[in-house]
Amino acid sequence: PFTGGNVDMRALFGRTNRDWWPDALQLDILTQGGKNADPYGDDFDYAEAFNAVDYAGLKADLTALMTDSQSWWPADYGHYGPFFIRMAWHAAGTYRTGDGRGGASSGQQRFAPLNSWPDNGNLDKARRLLWPIKQKYGKNISWADLFILTGNVAIESMGGPVFGFGGGRKDVYEPETVYWGTEELWVDQGVETRIIPDEGKALENPLAAIQMGLIYVNPEGPGGNPHDAEGMARDMRETFARMAMNDEETVALTAGGHAFGKCHGAKPADTFGKAPEGESLHTMGFGWLTDPEEIGKGHITTSGIEGAWTPNPTQWGNDYFRLLFKYDYELVESPAGAKQWTPINPDPEDMAPDARDPSKKVPTIMTTADMALKRDPEYRKISERFRDDQAALDDAFARAWFKLTHRDMGPKARYLGPEVPEETLIWQDPVPAGSKPSDGDVSAFKAKVLDSGLSVRELVKAAWASASTYRNSDHRGGANGARVRVAPQKDWAVNDPEELSNVLAKLDELRGNLSMADAIVLAGAAAIEKAAKDGGFDVSVDVTTGRGDATEEHTDAASFEPLEPYADAFRNYLKTKASVKTEDMMVDKANLLGLSIPEMTALVGGMRALGAVSKHAKHGNDIGVLTDRPGVLSNDFFVNLLHMGTLWEVVDESGDEEFVGKDRESGEERWHATRTDLVFGSNSQLRAIAEVFAENGGEKRFIETFVSAWVKVMDADRFDLAG
Ligand code: HEM
Repeated sequence: PFTGGNVDMRALFGRTNRDWWPDALQLDILTQGGKNADPYGDDFDYAEAFNAVDYAGLKADLTALMTDSQSWWPADYGHYGPFFIRMAWHAAGTYRTGDGRGGASSGQQRFAPLNSWPDNGNLDKARRLLWPIKQKYGKNISWADLFILTGNVAIESMGGPVFGFGGGRKDVYEPETVYWGTEELWVDQGVETRIIPDEGKALENPLAAIQMGLIYVNPEGPGGNPHDAEGMARDMRETFARMAMNDEETVALTAGGHAFGKCHGAKPADTFGKAPEGESLHTMGFGWLTDPEEIGKGHITTSGIEGAWTPNPTQWGNDYFRLLFKYDYELVESPAGAKQWTPINPDPEDMAPDARDPSKKVPTIMTTADMALKRDPEYRKISERFRDDQAALDDAFARAWFKLTHRDMGPKARYLGPEVPEETLIWQDPVPAGSKPSDGDVSAFKAKVLDSGLSVRELVKAAWASASTYRNSDHRGGANGARVRVAPQKDWAVNDPEELSNVLAKLDELRGNLSMADAIVLAGAAAIEKAAKDGGFDVSVDVTTGRGDATEEHTDAASFEPLEPYADAFRNYLKTKASVKTEDMMVDKANLLGLSIPEMTALVGGMRALGAVSKHAKHGNDIGVLTDRPGVLSNDFFVNLLHMGTLWEVVDESGDEEFVGKDRESGEERWHATRTDLVFGSNSQLRAIAEVFAENGGEKRFIETFVSAWVKVMDADRFDLAG
C-alpha cells in the first residue's frame, strides 16, 4: 500500500536488529528508565574536547597510518587511502534528505545493522586499523569525526583536492533506530530492486538506497542487470538526489572516488564468513572472515567485482575519465561471478598494477554504475567536461565531498576545528547574525502584540510554524532565520498561509528593531503567558533573543521541501493519510524535535487547549480542541479526554482518522478528535502521562512541562549561542 508524496513510508521502524539477529545480546533493557548508554555521561562537552585535540599530530598520525600496512589486512598498493575513502563515504552516504536521518554524524557505522550491511563489507577492518589512533586521542576525537577526517587525510595523501573539515560529530553508544526498510531479505540474498516503474513502484520515502543493505545503488545494474543503462542512471539519479546531490555532484563524486583504489571480487562469495553481527564470539566483532593466506595474496572478495578503475589507483588524476572515454568496454565476469566491464584491447600503460605485486599488470574495470557516466546523456555531458577540465573536476569533487561528509551537521556554527572553510555554502542554510534587543524593547513589543488584536491561537501557531521545522537528525530547520516568511514554508498548507501572512505582516509592523525571527518567538511567548494567566497561572516563557533573519537569497528553497510536515500531530494536521499510522508520524516528529514522551504529551494537550489547530487539518478547525475555553492554557484536553462520561466512535469509515465523542447517557455530541488525540487515552503508556496531567494538582506540572517543552522547541536550533 503506497501513497503519494512524502508519506509512502510503510512502517515507522521497519525491520530492526532484533529481526536480523534474534540471538544477539539485547542490551536495551539496561537503558530503560532513561538510563544513559553513553559512558561519557550527560555532562561531557565534546566540542570542548575536540577543540583541545592535537589536530596537527592527529593528522600526521593518520597520514603515517595510510602506508603502515598490517599483515592481518595488508594495504592494496601499500596504501590504505582508497579503503578509508570508501569507509568515510559509506559513513556519510546513509544520509537522506527525507527525514535527515542516517549520515556520518554519530558514528553509526560501528553498530548494527550498518556494520553488517553487505555494502559495508570489510569496512570492519578499516575501523580496526584506526583503533590505535582512536585510542591515542581518546575523548578528543569521536569515531564519527575520525571516520570523516581519515577520509580527508586519505584524499590529501594521494594528491587529491580537499575543501575543508569541520569536526563536532558526537558519538552515540547505541544503534540508532532508523527506518531502513521493511524487506525481509538483503541485497546479497537476491531481493529485487525497490524501483520498478513499469509496476508503479517508486523508491519508498524516506529511503535512499535501491535495496536493503546498500548505501545507494547496485553497482552491477538495476536488480543486477548490466544491460539496463537507463535504469542504472535512473537509480543513481534518484538515490543521489535523496542525498541532496545533483547530476554534477553525482558524477564528480563517483568518478572522483573511483580515481582511487579497487574493487574486490577474487573469490566466490561462499569462500568467506558471515557479517560481523552474526559471527561467533571469538571473532571479536570481525566478519566476512577469509583465509589469511588468501588475504596475503590479495585474494579478497567484498563487492564481488574485481579490479581497479585506473592505472594509478593511489594517485589523484584524470585517468578515470580518460579511460572511460578512450576505450569501448565489454561485459565480463569477475572471478566471484559479478558482472563488470573492461576496456577492449587496452594499451599496456593503461593496465593497472596488481594490488600486491606492482610489477604485475592487470586489466582495469568499470562497474555498470561507472558506465552510466557515459551511457546517460546528461551524465555524459558532465563527464566529458570533467575529462577536458581537470581544474573543474578538482573543484567539483572537493566541494561535493565536503557536502557529502558535512550535510548532516546542520549550520556552520556547529563546525569545529582549524580547517573549517571560510566560504559559506547555501546548503548550510546560512542565517545572518542577529543582535540582542534591550529588555525594554522586548517587553514593549510583547505588550503591543497582546494589544494588536491577534489571537493567542494565531500567535502560537505562527511561532510553532516557525520553530517546529527543526529536526535533530540533520540539525536543519527551526526558528532562527525566520524562513517561515519565505518560500516554500510560507505556502505550506499546514501553516494556514493566509492566516500566517496576516500574522507576520502585523508582527513586522510592530517589531521595531527586533528581528522577525525573534519577534515571532516573542509573540508566541507573550500569547502563552497570557493564556496561562487567563487560566490563573503566572508563568514566564523564556526567550533567548538574538536570532537573525534569512531571506530568499540565503535559502535554497528546493532543499527545504523535504522539511514540509505531511503530518503534524501538534497542530492536528494530516495532509494525506499515510500507510504508517498517524500516531507513528507523531512519534517520528517528536523524535526529530528531540522531545521526551511527557514533553510530546504536554505539547499536544497544550496546543489543543490553546486552539492551535491547523485550519487545514483535514477534519476541521477545532478538532481535538477538547475544551470550552480555547485560548486558555489549561489541562482541559486531558481532563475531557479521560472523562468516562464520553463514548468515542469512529466517524470516517475510510480512514479511521476521525472520531466523535458522545455523552454516554444522552448520546449528545460533545467533541471531535483524531487518532493523535485519542491515542493519549488509548495507549497505556501515553494514558499514564495524560492521567498525571489530568489529576488534581496535575495542572501545574502540565503547564510547567508544556512551557519547558515549548522553549526547547523554540531554541532547538540556537547553535549560534554555543561557545
Ligand atoms: C569501491 C561502487 C560511489 C569511493 C567501490 C566498490 C564498488 C563501488 C562496487 C568496490 C568495493 C570492493 O569490492 O572493495 C560504487 C557505486 C557508487 C559509488 C555503485 C555510486 C553510484 C562512490 C563515491 C565514492 C566512492 C561517491 C567517494 C567519493 C570508492 C573508493 C573505492 C570504492 C575509494 C575503493 C575502495 C578500496 O580500494 O578498497 N565502489 N561506488 N564510490 N568506492 Fe565506490
